[in-house]
Amino acid sequence: MIEYRPLKIALLGAGVVGSQVAKLLLENKEELAARVGAELELIGVLVRDKNAARLSNIPSELITTEADALILGADIVIEVMGGIEPARTYILQALNSGSDVITANKALLATNGVELFDTAEQVGAQLYFEAAVAGAIPIIRPLRESLAGDKIKRIMGIVNGSTNYILDRMDSTGCTLESAIAEATKLGYLEADPTLDLEGFDAAQKAAILASLAFHTEVPLEKVYREGITKVTSEQMAAAKRDGYVIKLLAICEKIDATETEEEGISVRVYPAMVPLEHPLASVRGAFNAVFVEAEAAGSLMFYGSGAGGLQTASAVMGDLVSAAKRHVAGGPGLADSVHADLEVLPISRIKTRYQITLEVTDAPGVLATVANAFAKHDVSIETVEQSAKMIEAESTAWLEIGTHEATDKDLAAVVEELRNSSAVEQITSVIRVEGV
Ligand code: NAP
Ligand code: HSE
Repeated sequence: MIEYRPLKIALLGAGVVGSQVAKLLLENKEELAARVGAELELIGVLVRDKNAARLSNIPSELITTEADALILGADIVIEVMGGIEPARTYILQALNSGSDVITANKALLATNGVELFDTAEQVGAQLYFEAAVAGAIPIIRPLRESLAGDKIKRIMGIVNGSTNYILDRMDSTGCTLESAIAEATKLGYLEADPTLDLEGFDAAQKAAILASLAFHTEVPLEKVYREGITKVTSEQMAAAKRDGYVIKLLAICEKIDATETEEEGISVRVYPAMVPLEHPLASVRGAFNAVFVEAEAAGSLMFYGSGAGGLQTASAVMGDLVSAAKRHVAGGPGLADSVHADLEVLPISRIKTRYQITLEVTDAPGVLATVANAFAKHDVSIETVEQSAKMIEAESTAWLEIGTHEATDKDLAAVVEELRNSSAVEQITSVIRVEGV
């Protein structure tokens, strides 16, 4: 039964995502009203260019360039414009006028999230952002609600679809990075500024959002360690495959226990790493996303689906809209996140992972001992060594593939430096982390 007054919805943006939000709002009006207990009335759609063609049929009288009037007349504001400004100003304006806000804007949340959440808390409004991480995949709500009584140990996610597509093409076809990037570009998978995807900035923004929720800690974007996929070679991909691994761009958020000398903290990092083929993340193909969560009580959980796409992302926006609208109808507090834990975000130098290092060395007596010594000197323990002379032309050269036990980034960097300066080593062809073992 619908007794509540119609709720006024303002949509900021009518691009890839916004046009689909408008379509779902207009087409599913009756069903949404029945679910919420109030009609959801789209009162206007903010755009830059009123005359531009739209991806869905939005009545022309709803299209506007007048931000203030639209925002101030709404109960709930949906921001799907992207960018920092004027999105930030509009969201603050909406919150300060008492509206709940739904946003898909990971870049804004990762850079100005603290300001936005503080404002929402002060005025008693709600800020929802399911669509900001991993598109259609429900991951924000599980972290905010379903797992709120558990303790998260680690999150390992493939949260950038375009780089997953590129790495998957390299793995499945043996093609070069350049040709896989060209394919992804042709399919329209990359952001307007492709470095956001290729250099891991997009994944780092999402990692910062996930880590702050999982560990109840503010995570400034500049503290997220980031490496993109631009140095991944087809040779590394082939070697990983031969050894039973696949290379994925991972966003890792992890609780790090205290040691005898160091405080506990968290690590938030993005880099390409070798993942064993039997790990659930290894089977995430194409442009799909997945988030693998390890919690103390729940154990391992995997969330999988479309990380982008207009309609898919609009689904996540609509879920938030129904929640926000129900809160208006039923009253009471909404979701609130806490940053009470206030853990230190640790530098990459303190983080331990396994590594795979590939070297070309002089094939002569004592060379293996020299190489092993470099590892021992810096306290890095070798787990596996494979030697082969077949891969290269010169007879006096051998190819060494060394797998390590867990070592800190700092110790491994010292080993690499030592090897680089050693006369026994002709070339270091690959240094890559191994995760999920
Ligand atoms: P988009 O296609 O570029 O659409 C942006 C829309 O916002 C356009 O309609 C544009 O108007 C409007 N807009 C931009 N700046 C404006 C301004 N200053 N004043 C008024 N209107 C303005 O972007 P999108 O792909 O839909 O992405 C929107 C948000 O969703 C971003 O934060 C993005 O990161 C996030 N997101 C997108 C995806 C995806 O698959 N696309 C997935 C997850 C999250 P005009 O059309 O008139 O230019
Ligand atoms: N550029 C992003 C990706 C879009 O490739 O996953 C979704 O956030």
